[in-house]
Amino acid sequence: TPDTTGLYAHAGFPVGASININLLKNNATYSALVAKEFNSVTPENVMKMDAIQPTQGNFTFGEADYLVSFAKQHGMRVHGHALVWYQAVPGWVTNFTGDSSAWENMLKTHIQTEVAHFKGKVVSWDVVNEAIDEDGTLRKNLWLQHLGPDYIARSFQYAHQADPDALLFYNDYGHEYSSVKRAAIITLVTGMKNRGIPVDGFGMQMHTNTSVPDNAISAAITAVANTGLKVHISELDISLNPNNDQNMTYTAALASVQSQKYQALVKAYNALPAAQKFGITTWDVSDADSWIPPYYHRPDWPLPFDASYKRKAAWQGIVNGLK
Ligand code: G3I
Repeated sequence: TPDTTGLYAHAGFPVGASININLLKNNATYSALVAKEFNSVTPENVMKMDAIQPTQGNFTFGEADYLVSFAKQHGMRVHGHALVWYQAVPGWVTNFTGDSSAWENMLKTHIQTEVAHFKGKVVSWDVVNEAIDEDGTLRKNLWLQHLGPDYIARSFQYAHQADPDALLFYNDYGHEYSSVKRAAIITLVTGMKNRGIPVDGFGMQMHTNTSVPDNAISAAITAVANTGLKVHISELDISLNPNNDQNMTYTAALASVQSQKYQALVKAYNALPAAQKFGITTWDVSDADSWIPPYYHRPDWPLPFDASYKRKAAWQGIVNGLK
C-alpha cells in the first residue's frame, strides 16, 4: 500500500523545501504537495533584498507575507532567506554612492526592517549567505568592499536586535567538496560565537551530485556538527548530470543511484544529536521547478519529486535514511 504520510512525518526534525511563490499561488498540485509533504518552508526568492526593498525605503512584503500565511495555515515553520547576500541585490544598492557610514546605515535598516516585519512569524534566518570564497578568503563582494570584514558579525547583531528570539544562521555551499572552504566557514562562525556574536548555526546548502562520495558528505556534516552549533541542510539537491551531458535521459538506474545518495546523506544527518538537527530543506520541490536545468542549460532531475509532482525513488531514499 502506498505511504500516505508526508515526508516530514517520517523524520524527528523538520523537513522542508524552498518555495516558488508563483507556483504556490497558481499551481494547485504544487501547493497541495507542499502542504502534504513538508512542515518547513524557505522562500526561494521573495525574502531576498531585491524582492523586499526594490527601491530605497520602499519595502514590499506582499509575496513573502503570502508564503508566511500559507505556512501558518498549514502549521509549517518558516525559515527566512537571505538577509545579506551579494546576489539578488537591487540596482539602487549596486549604484549606492554613500560613505561607509551611509552603507552601514543602509545595511542595518534593511536587516532590521525585514526581521522586525516577520518577528514571531519567521523563526530563523540565513543572515549572511555565501560570504566565503572558494579559496577560503572572504568573498570580494560589495559588502566587504564598503563595510570591511566585520559586516558579517554586525549583520548578525542587527538581526538579533530586531528579533532576539530568531535563530540565526550562516549559510554557504561547498563544505562537502572543499575542506579549505569548510575550514574557513567553521573558523568564521566559531570565531563569531566565541566573541559573543549571536550566531546559532550553519546552513550547509548541499547542492551536490551523484559523483560526490557518501563519505565526503558524511565527513562534512560531522565536521560542521563538531562545533556543537545547529546544522541545517538548507538547499539540498542531488544532480544526476554534473557534466552537462545534453543528451542524458532519466533512467531507473540513475533514479536508484540518486535514491542511494539521498539515503546516505539523510542517514549521516540523522545520526547527529537531536538538538543540532535544525532540519533538511530541499532547494525547490520537483524536477519541473528546480533552478538547475535553466541555470546550467542542461537536463537534470535533482529532486525527490518528478516533473508531474509524483514521488521518485529519491523520496523513498530519504525515508529509508531516517529509519
Ligand atoms: O522575477 C523576475 C522576473 O520578473 C523576470 O521576468 C525574470 C527574467 O529573468 O527574472 C525573474 O527573476 C529571477 C528570479 O530567480 C525569480 O524567478 C532572476 O532573474 C533569477 O536570477 C532568480 O534566480 C534565483 C537565484 O537564487 C538568484 O536569486 C533562483 O530562482 C534561486 O533558486 C537561486 O537560489 C540560490 C540561493 O538563494 C542561494 N544558494 C544558491 C541557490 C541557487 O543558485
